[in-house]
Amino acid sequence: MARRKKIYEGKAKILYEGPEPGTLVQYFKDDATAFNAEKKDVIEGKGVLNNRLSEYFMLGLNNIGVPTHFLRRINMREQLIRSCEIIPLEVIVRNFAAGSISKRLGIEEGTQLPRPIIEFSYKDDSLGDPLVPEEYITAFGWASQQDLDDIVSIAIRVNDYLSGVMYGVGIKLIDFKIEIGRIYDGDFMRLVVADEISPDSCRLWDIKTGEKLDKDVFRRDLGNLTDAYTEVARRLGVMPSNVTPATKPTLIN
Ligand SMILES: Nc1ncnc2c1ncn2[C@@H]1O[C@H](COP(=O)(O)OP(=O)(O)OP(=O)(O)O)[C@@H](O)[C@H]1O
Ligand SMILES: [Mg+2]
Repeated sequence: MARRKKIYEGKAKILYEGPEPGTLVQYFKDDATAFNAEKKDVIEGKGVLNNRLSEYFMLGLNNIGVPTHFLRRINMREQLIRSCEIIPLEVIVRNFAAGSISKRLGIEEGTQLPRPIIEFSYKDDSLGDPLVPEEYITAFGWASQQDLDDIVSIAIRVNDYLSGVMYGVGIKLIDFKIEIGRIYDGDFMRLVVADEISPDSCRLWDIKTGEKLDKDVFRRDLGNLTDAYTEVARRLGVMPSNVTPATKPTLIN
């Protein structure tokens, strides 16, 4: 069997050359990292869950007219995506305070923000993905003002979609991060939602209990991460049939 070409290996995913030009295979690993990879572990089953969950959200977005890089699932850990030129920004949308905004401004976690707040950080691990103002983004040419306006519109649509989907299954969308890619088509360029949308890149709290169902479970040692992600997948009806939660044996009579 021919070895396929690895394009990039990141902390959570591997990109391989795809079967057709302009495509890539995105492989979801079980590796979990936090605090710029200072904390690391392998969480069995996480990659399978994120592959499914990201497919679910990206397909939902495609269906409501928000373009994404997602083409189709290949297997439990891999999906076919359109290859894009990633804009080197993390686009963060916050509905409730948590994490860095709480620390920076002294706002208690869980406080509803006056309106959704969009912020950008520059994707550079060696710098710790620093928060950047729009002025930097246009001045350094990472994106034009027109791109930024489009990115903000996309981010708001993703926020409304994700908040609604989550609310429907009793989950509060506290915040999330997306990456945006450029796809060139002759003289035209369009922006699409790329990378992944999963509990690795969102903060999700159970509406009733406030229980955390996202990567903070790993960051803050709050319990079993796979159980948390499985719960999100189960509520959304996208629980992969062949992943059995290791901790819960079934009684057969
Ligand atoms: N459609 C796409 N086309 C090209 N690159 C993509 C696409 N979607 C995601 N990527 C990039 O693929 C990589 C996915 O790997 P992973 O998320 O594990 O990286 P990472 O360790 O978080 O590092 P990075 O700082 O590069 O995001 C990221 O660099 C992401 O920006
Ligand atoms: Mg990443």
